[in-house]
Amino acid sequence: MIPLSALPSVNAALNATSALLLIAGYGFIRAKRLPLHVACMLSACATSLAFLVSYLIYHAQVGATPFPGQGWIRVAYFTILISHTVLAAVILPLVGRTLWLAIQRRFDAHERLARVTLPLWLYVSVTGVLVYLMLYHAPLAHACPMCKEALLDPAGAQTVTRAAKGYAMSIAALVGMPFVLVGGVAMLIVRASRRRDANLR
Ligand code: HEM
Repeated sequence: MIPLSALPSVNAALNATSALLLIAGYGFIRAKRLPLHVACMLSACATSLAFLVSYLIYHAQVGATPFPGQGWIRVAYFTILISHTVLAAVILPLVGRTLWLAIQRRFDAHERLARVTLPLWLYVSVTGVLVYLMLYHAPLAHACPMCKEALLDPAGAQTVTRAAKGYAMSIAALVGMPFVLVGGVAMLIVRASRRRDANLR
């Protein structure tokens, strides 16, 4: 039996696994490896579903965990958390419909919808890991000089003003990072599979 206190780490691992499976599944369909695409996408559905169940169990028992940081890092945290939560609800019907279209072999419609579903799903999975790191691994944030300053400064209002002056870029970078990371890895997979296809021809 997994202890309740371990569930946040389990949830973050499930989110990270979903993200990796989605990237691999996308790479496989670009490389025209249908069985591998299907296997990855169905596994991503399973890990995301497992995350949802585990998340609901944890929060039903423990409730909300307060975020300790102050100043701009708090703004960044809630920006990520709110966008993550809203999109997590939005992707549920999208994933179901994308899957349904594939099962019905309506692949044109599947592809059109999947191009919306996939980036949103990736955003939710990657920001799930970010929220976990920010909430449960604040010492990691202390390694970053700017985060450290914001976490330690008790005068929250002062740091928010400074955020408006100079740290807005950091918030944008934090929110944009999942896209850059995931997009970068996806591009590498697609390029590698294209190069291999060109070599096979
Ligand atoms: C919800 C899970 C799924 C997601 C997010 C997903 C995602 C995608 C994406 C993004 C594409 C377009 C790739 C491109 O831009 O070239 C695609 C194409 C495709 N997918 Fe999926 N997929 C999922 C499940 C499935 C399943 C279960 C099947 C098989 C039954 C399937 C079969 C296909 C096929 C055949 C194509 C190519 C369509 C064509 O070239 O006309 N997918 N999928």
